[in-house]
Amino acid sequence: MTTRAANPNTTPQATTFADSGDSGDWIARSLKAVWHPCTQMKHHERLPLIPVSRGSGAWLYDRADNRYMDAISSWWVNLFGHANPRINAALKDQLDTLEHAMLAGCTHEPAVELAERLNALTDHTLGHAFFASDGASAVEIALKMSFHAWRNRGHDDKREFVCVANSYHGETIGALGVTDVALFKDAYDPLIRHAHVVASPDARVAQPGESAAQQAERALDSVRALFEARAGKIAALIVEPLVQCAAGMAMHDPSYLQGLRTLCDRFDVHLIADEIAVGCGRTGTFFACEQAGIWPDLLCLSKGISGGYLPLSIVLSRDEIYEAFYDDDTARGFLHSHSYTGNPLACRAALATLDLFASDNVLVENVRKSDVLRQALAPLADHPHVRHLRSRGTIFAFDAHIADAQHARTFSRRFFENALKRELLLRPIGTTVYLMPPYILDDEQLHWLAARTRETFDATLAETL
Ligand SMILES: Cc1ncc(COP(=O)(O)O)c(C=O)c1O
Repeated sequence: MTTRAANPNTTPQATTFADSGDSGDWIARSLKAVWHPCTQMKHHERLPLIPVSRGSGAWLYDRADNRYMDAISSWWVNLFGHANPRINAALKDQLDTLEHAMLAGCTHEPAVELAERLNALTDHTLGHAFFASDGASAVEIALKMSFHAWRNRGHDDKREFVCVANSYHGETIGALGVTDVALFKDAYDPLIRHAHVVASPDARVAQPGESAAQQAERALDSVRALFEARAGKIAALIVEPLVQCAAGMAMHDPSYLQGLRTLCDRFDVHLIADEIAVGCGRTGTFFACEQAGIWPDLLCLSKGISGGYLPLSIVLSRDEIYEAFYDDDTARGFLHSHSYTGNPLACRAALATLDLFASDNVLVENVRKSDVLRQALAPLADHPHVRHLRSRGTIFAFDAHIADAQHARTFSRRFFENALKRELLLRPIGTTVYLMPPYILDDEQLHWLAARTRETFDATLAETL
């Protein structure tokens, strides 16, 4: 297979998957045999499916060797590029040492080291790491832990949960209970145990003249009112700190998290931080909560922690919660498990990821890179169809203002296709265009990304339907 050099200045090319090599064959076989996630499969009758053959750095390559910059880090997981040599080397070494051993009754270096290093990253506040595979399973674990900890302490009636308007915490039945996205939830409504939904702190819905901090304060009023009425029945509140990603990169002021911490302390409610999307440096600090100067009682981590290599999630908990389970009675323990809990390969990928953070000064370098991208995107603020150009750390977004309903409804799909023609993998959420690139782009690539995003946006707006 020939390899096209990753030169960010090559001209856009039309994407013709079906005609290139054996791509059409793989697409047809996939559409016949693979049930793709979060997809209405019938849409693939006309929506392109990219037959990915390999990845290298920021680029994914299809079977005809067309390249696409993975500007959303493959659903927000890939931090240091595809086929990163240092993560690859760690995994190869681990593969020859220990591929897997059950974590009940056994332990191994990668799990112990990872738990210790994450503990240290929380200033030794969240000292116990419980391992799982995906984000949703971490959320299930945090909810069960919170309820069971209260129960073990004699508060059997604390069995309700609170989530924030427009929140997204995953798609298993329990996680849907604390998710507030109708599209994912409504079909399963009869199966779901619904949480209380409190007002959104989203800075975009601030009233005229109101600051993001004032909007956050107003949102806290609804939490306070709920806690005053029902805290005795509430086990935990779960929040996506700083950015509600699936809601369309809705960003809020850090003071919201400080307010939540204060209210949860005052009313004896656990605070669960879902850092599955925003952890691992995405918002500028390793954990988003650091920007508010708070720690939650339980913290869920996944996605980027394995560098985007292997399914891994972790729930970090405070000593008080851990100790609520520590007993002679088996039934008072946390009897939750998954077959691949603490998989050594996944943990080793995570350790290699943490090594990259430590050795390459990643968080400091990301501040500089984010400034470059922010400045390159800044002219969009004057675009007549752009609203709320915003960023937090390495997350960038704007909302497309489209008056025509049919154009707005089809915007995301059309933008995606237009982006592919420009060697860009970008999937807007509704009419929100967002960038969440891996941390490895150089300045030239950052400018290229900004320019291609704008070209794609203009081409999509110009289409007649
Ligand atoms: C904040 C948040 N929580 C939970 C999840 C669910 O993670 P997973 O898709 O790995 O189950 C996601 C996924 O996007 C997420 O963004």
